[in-house]
Amino acid sequence: MNYRHAFHAGNFADVLKHVMLAFVIDYQQQKPGPIRVVESHAGAGLYDLASAAAARTSEWKDGVGRLAAPFAPEVEDVLKPWRDALDVLRAGHGATSYPGSPLLCQQLLRADDRYIGAELQPETFRALKSALGRDARMKAFQMDGWQALRANIPPKERRGLALIDPAFEAADEWQALARETTAAWRKWPTGCFMVWYPLKNPRQADELCGALADAGPATALRLELMVDDLDVANRLAGCGLAILNPPWTLKAAADALLPALAERLARSSRAGFRSEMIAG
Ligand SMILES: C[S@@+](CC[C@H](N)C(=O)[O-])C[C@H]1O[C@@H](n2cnc3c(N)ncnc32)[C@H](O)[C@@H]1O
Repeated sequence: MNYRHAFHAGNFADVLKHVMLAFVIDYQQQKPGPIRVVESHAGAGLYDLASAAAARTSEWKDGVGRLAAPFAPEVEDVLKPWRDALDVLRAGHGATSYPGSPLLCQQLLRADDRYIGAELQPETFRALKSALGRDARMKAFQMDGWQALRANIPPKERRGLALIDPAFEAADEWQALARETTAAWRKWPTGCFMVWYPLKNPRQADELCGALADAGPATALRLELMVDDLDVANRLAGCGLAILNPPWTLKAAADALLPALAERLARSSRAGFRSEMIAG
């Protein structure tokens, strides 16, 4: 396990994932019943973009670093839950802080909502526990993410979402991702499942999305953001989110957001996006 998210925090891929995560949570909170977020690969929770780790790649400069200027109002509407949470977290932790998914959830969850996240890497887990502090709504376990999904799905609330965001280090990660997500969705067919993937070899993404759609969710959405030619060596240039049971408003939101992000975050003229219902 060599992957350290601190090198990548706040990059274009984080921005897409975190904006969509905040949007989905905000949508689910339009009803009063409590929700639960189950996260398989949680990371450290909070990052400092001024740290040596972030400086090693400076990826955030081409991600969250480009988002200060406002977009058109219809794009800002989509960004709002994430921007609001980011503002509050930065007011508390400093202007160079960047919240990962656990801290974003912590900021967004209401008193009755719950989060449970798994992180296997010991040092990262310690950082996560420390970042979460004492908060009865937020539970983190040092355990394998696939085991955590099997153990915690379906949650007793029956409303909420699963975020599945592996490190893509294991040789069989793509197969595990399809298999474990499908199995988890079968146990919780009304849950929203958000699955992040890197876009390096588009065939892997086609196979993953095909397998998830074949599982039979009523609706599923495939979103992708490319900031450069995918063949650019050694540098991630595209990523995707497959979302099972997305909020019905998410496709329109993504259709506003993705072209704006592709334009703002472009590293070359090969930037682009994809937004497609793959089920429903
Ligand atoms: C992409 S990062 C997660 C980022 C986080 N979801 C966010 O958006 O802020 C993936 C994390 O998975 C952790 N990890 C690697 N193998 C794991 C496993 N088998 N189970 C749980 N976590 C694992 C890595 O240490 C890393 O922190």
